[in-house]
Amino acid sequence: MKALEGVRILDMTHVQSGPTCTQLLAWFGADVIKVERPGTGDPTRGQLRDIPDVDSLYFTMLNHNKRSITLNTKRDQGKEIFTRLIQCCDVLVENFAPGALDRMGFSWERIQQINPRIISASVKGFGPGPYEDSKVYENVAQCAGGGASTTGFDDGPPTVAGAQIGDSGTGLHLALGIVTALFQREKTDRGQRVECAMQDGVLNLCRVKLRDQQRLAHGPLKEYPQYPNGTFHDATPRAGNASGGGQPGWIVKCKGWEEDPNAYLYVIVQEAAFKSLARAIHREDWLEDPEWNTASVRLPKLEQVFDEIEKWTLTKTKFEATQILSAVDVPCGPVLSMKELAEDPALRATGTVVEVDHPTRGPYLSVGNPIKLSDSPSQVKRSPLLGEHTDEILRDVLGMDAAAVAAAKSEGAV
Ligand code: COA
Repeated sequence: MKALEGVRILDMTHVQSGPTCTQLLAWFGADVIKVERPGTGDPTRGQLRDIPDVDSLYFTMLNHNKRSITLNTKRDQGKEIFTRLIQCCDVLVENFAPGALDRMGFSWERIQQINPRIISASVKGFGPGPYEDSKVYENVAQCAGGGASTTGFDDGPPTVAGAQIGDSGTGLHLALGIVTALFQREKTDRGQRVECAMQDGVLNLCRVKLRDQQRLAHGPLKEYPQYPNGTFHDATPRAGNASGGGQPGWIVKCKGWEEDPNAYLYVIVQEAAFKSLARAIHREDWLEDPEWNTASVRLPKLEQVFDEIEKWTLTKTKFEATQILSAVDVPCGPVLSMKELAEDPALRATGTVVEVDHPTRGPYLSVGNPIKLSDSPSQVKRSPLLGEHTDEILRDVLGMDAAAVAAAKSEGAV
């Protein structure tokens, strides 16, 4: 049995944020019915294609374990079918532009009327306020949520992260909201609205930077590379590769960095492991030297500390350095490329990286469910072709007969 078996999701999502959420729910066992516009479907099916005329990796990697029905919700019969789907689903998830669902004729009030037990979950770029009507994509959210202003180096421009904290991050927040609302419904028998704004999701993930904004009023942020010689202004600055926590950290070069852009190691000078670190890099002399042997005397000289560590890491590959330092409890880890992650046997063994077969594109790699439940293991199944399950859903979920299905098709509703 799967954790969410018996939960039926009406998935009106597209692009990345919403699909991330419903894919997780599908991995936990929910029956996710993805509603797509006839003819085109989710626009990502055709975006960034690596192979002509087959569903892109953009789409296939975000829509595993779902069923697809084509439905034009702006046609009369389409609206009728959509209404019946709302009646028999537990959750509706959408990430259309603000107001799009209302323009289709399905406001929250109307949805509640149709099914008072339904949970209606939405991703929007912004919550109520000056930007609430804006369309938003990933990097806009990273900029508006505090990610970009706090990422990069002090002497460079604001920088967006490779991690999709705006889209996939908000999808994760939404999934938590949905399961929480399902849990509450067990007691109240009522559905509710779940709303996540991408700006809010990014800001939540940048929580420590708002912490630093307030600390700034009480003096310089001593763990930032701007301390002691740089300048602090009135907002949390960009911290380069500094750790952001109470223990200083930085990225140092390793053997081979001249050819390999990812021959680097992240190393943390944790107070508890300082002795081991000093010995490993052959700087035992630091342990007796009052200029180096406490965290407070080292703090203004962190750059020199990391320069010394780097002299040692330059003699080792990132994997050798990781092995040696980890063995003596120094917190550290290699900078891994996507190629190395794709080939990592441990990630394959846990199902975090999986190979999936697809009828038109053949085998491809994907990221499996990163959340592991001991009683509800996830099995990654390929994404559906556009409308692959239209007839099956109309027949088995809505009980429509062949004549009714044919009528809906001739109107262009499905
Ligand atoms: N049947 C009929 N019409 C459909 C349909 C269907 N099955 N599915 C979508 N449509 C219509 C919508 O109703 C909308 O029509 P309208 O403009 O007349 O209201 C139209 O398709 C376009 O939808 P929209 O959501 O506006 O898509 P877009 O491509 O213009 O914008 C985003 C894309 C992502 C910018 C926008 O959806 C958005 O801001 N979403 C919220 C934030 C978000 O999730 N962003 C991250 C995406 S990863």
